[in-house]
Parts: sequence; C-alpha cells; structure tokens
Amino acid sequence: MTRTTLIRTDRYSWGAIWLHWSIAALVLVNLALGLFHESLLDGIKWVIPIHKSIGLTVLVLTLLRLGWRLTHRPPPLPVDMTGWERAVAKAVHWAFYALLLVLPLTGWMLSSNPARLRPMAWFWLFPVPPLPISGATATLGHNLHGIIAYAMLALVVLHVAAALRHYLLLRDAVLGRMAPGLNRNG
Ligand code: HEM
Ligand code: HEM
Repeated sequence: MTRTTLIRTDRYSWGAIWLHWSIAALVLVNLALGLFHESLLDGIKWVIPIHKSIGLTVLVLTLLRLGWRLTHRPPPLPVDMTGWERAVAKAVHWAFYALLLVLPLTGWMLSSNPARLRPMAWFWLFPVPPLPISGATATLGHNLHGIIAYAMLALVVLHVAAALRHYLLLRDAVLGRMAPGLNRNG
C-alpha cells in the first residue's frame, strides 16, 4: 500500500471531529441558556428564540452525524481497554445519540402547544412550523424536556471525566482520537 492510500486508524476523520466539537459546544450553550433562562436570563427576549434555533441546529447536525456513524467504523480503542470499559463507552455513546435526538424533539414538541403557539423562526431567518400535535402531547414533551436535559448533563459529566481519566491517568491515545492536537503519538 502506498503512503497516500493508507487509512488513518489513530483518530476520527475530520468530518466526525468537526461534528463532535460543534455539537458539544452547541449542547453546552443550550444547557446553560435553558437552565438559566428563568433566573439569570429572565426577561431577555432573545434567549428562548436563540435556544430554539441552536436546539434545531443540534437536531440537524445529529442526523448528519448519525448518517456518518452508521456508515463508518470509528478508529479502534486502545488494546488494553477491558471488556467492561468498552461496553460502558459504547453504551454512553449510543445513549448520547438517543438524547441528542429526543432533547431537541421534545423542545419542539413543547413549543408546538396549540393553546400557546408562538411563531418560530430559525435565527430569525426562516419559519419553523409547529409539530401537528395535541396540547396533551405538547405537555408530555414539556415534562420530558427538562428531565432529558438533566440526563444529558449527567452523561456529559461522565463522558468528560472518562476523557480526562484516559488523558491524565491512563495517558493513552483516546482523547487524541477526537482532539488530534492532544495526540501523544504525534
Ligand atoms: C441541544 C438541545 C437542547 C438542550 C440542551 C435544551 C435544554 C433545555 C433546558 C436545560 C431547559 C430548562 C428546563 C427546565 O428548567 O426544566 C430548556 C427549556 C426550554 N427549551 Fe430546550 N433544549 C434544547 C433544545 C430545544 C429546542 C429544539 C426547543 C424548541 C424548538 C427548545 C425549547 C425550549 C423551551 C421553550 C424551554 C422553556 C420551557 C419553560 O420555560 O417552561 N429546546 N431546554
Ligand atoms: C455535550 C458535549 C458532548 C457530547 C454530546 C459528546 C458526544 C460524543 C459521542 C456521541 C461520541 C461517540 C463518537 C462515536 O460514535 O464513535 C463521543 C466521543 C468522544 N468524545 Fe465526546 N461529547 C461531548 C463532549 C466532549 C468533551 C468536552 C470531551 C473532552 C474533554 C469529549 C471527548 C470525546 C472523546 C475523546 C471521544 C472518543 C472516545 C471514543 O471513541 O471512545 N467529548 N462524544
């Protein structure tokens, strides 16, 4: 095999890396906007419209990312990772994908309550229609949205702790697979 036909197996592709970090940044901003909109950010008119626009962007990027993920194999994990560590990593990753879909969807549901409809526009650029659902389904979305957001926060804490454990304690190449600047193998 020539040098140019070699497939890199030590890190994710640039597309996957770009999607990972943009979705991560948008989710963190939206968690903060959602959690603080009733206290610190109360009364700031653009907070909820921006929150909705960011959330819908996460939904679209996640669909792209799932398309990539289902058609590509991620780079192999370090050989010394045990069976349970691999199983936990896999479970957390797939739980992330599920939450990255249902969190924006329940947000869209709660914003589609026929009794309290407000026009929605993606970053004030183009209109987003409400979902054709009943008030009861919208209320269900409302209740689930907060719970799922806290589940997402818990998963992020677990995921970041695992990434830091790999980088600082185990000193292996796992973080470098997603952040090539930190790759210890150069
Ligand atoms: C990455 C995606 C999202 C995250 C992380 C997120 C997170 C949150 C959080 C943490 C809250 C506060 C919940 C609570 O205090 O119980 C919230 C509230 C809210 N979210 Fe989202 N959300 C996302 C997507 C969306 C989307 C796509 C929409 C609508 C299209 C939306 C609409 C809302 C609305 C209207 C509220 C306020 C509800 C209220 O005050 O009762 N969210 N969100
Ligand atoms: C809201 C924030 C985040 C979300 C939703 C998220 C989501 C994900 C998902 C779904 C994967 C699996 C990729 C695959 O399908 O193979 C992944 C991998 C990874 N993430 Fe995150 N991530 C977030 C933040 C972070 C942060 C802050 C770090 C670093 C401190 C990080 C480090 C990594 C690493 C190193 C991998 C590769 C691990 C492996 O393949 O086993 N992530 N992330």
